[in-house]
Amino acid sequence: MSNRPRLLPLLGATRHGSRDAMTCLYRCGNACDHPVPNSSGNPYFGDVVDAEVSRRGVVRAGAVGALVLGFGGAAAGALAGAGAASAAPVVPEATGFGRPPGGVGSGALTFKPIPPNKLDTLVVPNGYDHAVVIRWGDPVVPGAPEFDPHRQTAAKQAKQFGYNNDFVGVLPLDKRGRRALLVVNHEYTNEDLMFPGFIGLDALTVEQVRVAMAAHGMSVVELERVDGTGQWRPVGDGRRPYNRRVTALATRFELTGPAAGSAWLRTAADPKGRTVVGTLNNCAGGVTPWGTVLSGEENFNQYFVGGDGAPEELRPRLARYGINTTDRYPSGNRRWDRADERFDLAKHPNEAHRFGWVVEIDPFDPESRPRKHTALGRFKHEGANVIVARDGRVVAYMGDDERFDYLYKFVSDRRFMAGDSPVARRHNLTLLESGTLYVAQLEGNSAAEIDGSGALPADGAFNGRGRWIRLVSGNRSYVDGMTAADVLTFTRLAGDRAGATKMDRPEDVEPSLLTGKVYVALTNNTDRGKAGKAAADEANPRNLNKHGQVLELVEDGNNNAAETFAWSLPIVCGDPTDPSTHFAGYDKAKVSPISCPDNVAFDATGNLWISTDGNALGSNDGLFATAVEGPERGHLKQFLTVPLGAETCGPFITGDNRSVFVAVQHPGEITGASVENPASTWPDGDYAKPGVVVTWRLDGGPIGS
Ligand code: FEO
Ligand code: CA
Ligand code: CA
Repeated sequence: MSNRPRLLPLLGATRHGSRDAMTCLYRCGNACDHPVPNSSGNPYFGDVVDAEVSRRGVVRAGAVGALVLGFGGAAAGALAGAGAASAAPVVPEATGFGRPPGGVGSGALTFKPIPPNKLDTLVVPNGYDHAVVIRWGDPVVPGAPEFDPHRQTAAKQAKQFGYNNDFVGVLPLDKRGRRALLVVNHEYTNEDLMFPGFIGLDALTVEQVRVAMAAHGMSVVELERVDGTGQWRPVGDGRRPYNRRVTALATRFELTGPAAGSAWLRTAADPKGRTVVGTLNNCAGGVTPWGTVLSGEENFNQYFVGGDGAPEELRPRLARYGINTTDRYPSGNRRWDRADERFDLAKHPNEAHRFGWVVEIDPFDPESRPRKHTALGRFKHEGANVIVARDGRVVAYMGDDERFDYLYKFVSDRRFMAGDSPVARRHNLTLLESGTLYVAQLEGNSAAEIDGSGALPADGAFNGRGRWIRLVSGNRSYVDGMTAADVLTFTRLAGDRAGATKMDRPEDVEPSLLTGKVYVALTNNTDRGKAGKAAADEANPRNLNKHGQVLELVEDGNNNAAETFAWSLPIVCGDPTDPSTHFAGYDKAKVSPISCPDNVAFDATGNLWISTDGNALGSNDGLFATAVEGPERGHLKQFLTVPLGAETCGPFITGDNRSVFVAVQHPGEITGASVENPASTWPDGDYAKPGVVVTWRLDGGPIGS
């Protein structure tokens, strides 16, 4: 393996802001070439929504809240009795990840930040090391054949690690901290970089299309700690009973919740509307307090053709999800209809409605059927992250990653049951099946001063108040003219009618389990303020927003089930010398430049870690960290960069603060690149392969300090 630094020329011009044209094509089906799907005028709240004032925001103290706060930054759930699959998770306090001493903000970030760079390698600070944990093509399921891109088949790929890893979760598997389960999303494929001799999507064989379908989905991989360090590697021998591939090709999913079985979800192959084959474009996700993993189905629109042949009355609903309804083969489509005709909307118009959900998988039960939870709504789900509210209900925060789309949350009907008993486990697996779905509306307190330049208002903050607007509870819709199944299946349209606030691409939305505060990565929106488009507002304060911002949301009463909140922008991204940037008032001379925040995570002492996608400042993408409490709030420092053409995904910091995992997604994705002429040779020195990396401190100390 070679991780030596290399400097390679960029092969292609960029477009659509900072992304390479090749990323635009494969990543989101040239979304920027298509009209912004949200053309709604957004009538004001109260016109169409039941404006009943809720009393449920009132703080109610309870024992459950205290227990859940104890989870810290650790992944929740570990297996008691390491040998057998399908055993119950133990509470995280008892896991081998342990917990570092100290409380919120005790983990000072003293590492020396790395500089921006364009190296074709993974760069970490002095005193740290890193290793590739697993890469595209590595064996996952026992018996997986050796990877050979020249002789790849769908059957082989379905046993090997998939392409373009995004979400990373690491769940402890024993109490001594020696074994863990790695759960990873495989968001999309780049056929240019996967198939030797590639000349075009239309020239792929049907078997190659099926290879791509098998390279989508998720992987579960058992890991072992290396020699007591912060390094982890896949377990090489033995039964590996948890190892699993979930694919777009063959894995069956159960639909749950109020929209399951509805007319919108019925197809010729599934006349009951309850079982879906495959998951698509799984982007970010989250580990739940009960030891499962959530995964967001994001840019599912690009997989469908034939929208021009869909029933006339359905076309506006398809178009609101970015599905082209005027051409049979829109730009950027993947022609999966050649392998499976259900991707042809002229024949199976409801098939599109069976994607765009939050998926839940139980990695501790490899035989379990993953589920798509309709109660959490359907949109371009970036991911979902769960916290237990003070009264025990669970709250999932979610972003819809599209320019001018919305921020959501779900509050369960049922309450989290603590402990690791089979009864508790069965109960907690039902929590996301029924509850209330909300969309966010934000107001600034300096609205008259917002001119789109990013100039800070006189009160010194981009900040204000917000409310969660109820869209649906169980089978009760709060949106006029829409049934509960309508609201859940066409949630974007419900958000339009409710008067939700149009945001700058809400990606990862994650609560700090230490403070209950919620952090939202708003990646960018270069259409903000353009003619006919929404202008800047205090939460999205820059027109032609190239660099994005991070929003902090504090629920009233620090109750995550509340229906009102305060918000502010601790970080408005860009080069610190750019006057439109803001780092919570911290001395800008001491912060690292950051552009296009995408994923957020927390370490065990509550520091916020931010990864980027599409750096518009000329550097490779990377991972950054900052305190969010105390005098170091806003002191953002760059921790690592990923190789050329890649985006930084994950990230995941283990609860013992000893290991940082990141997913290196689409290395070498630069126009003109191929297997034979790679723009990146990471990680092995031959051609580019997406992979998951772990970083640890050489002296065994806590990450960041
Ligand atoms: Fe798949 Fe929103 O990034
Ligand atoms: Ca303000
Ligand atoms: Ca993302």
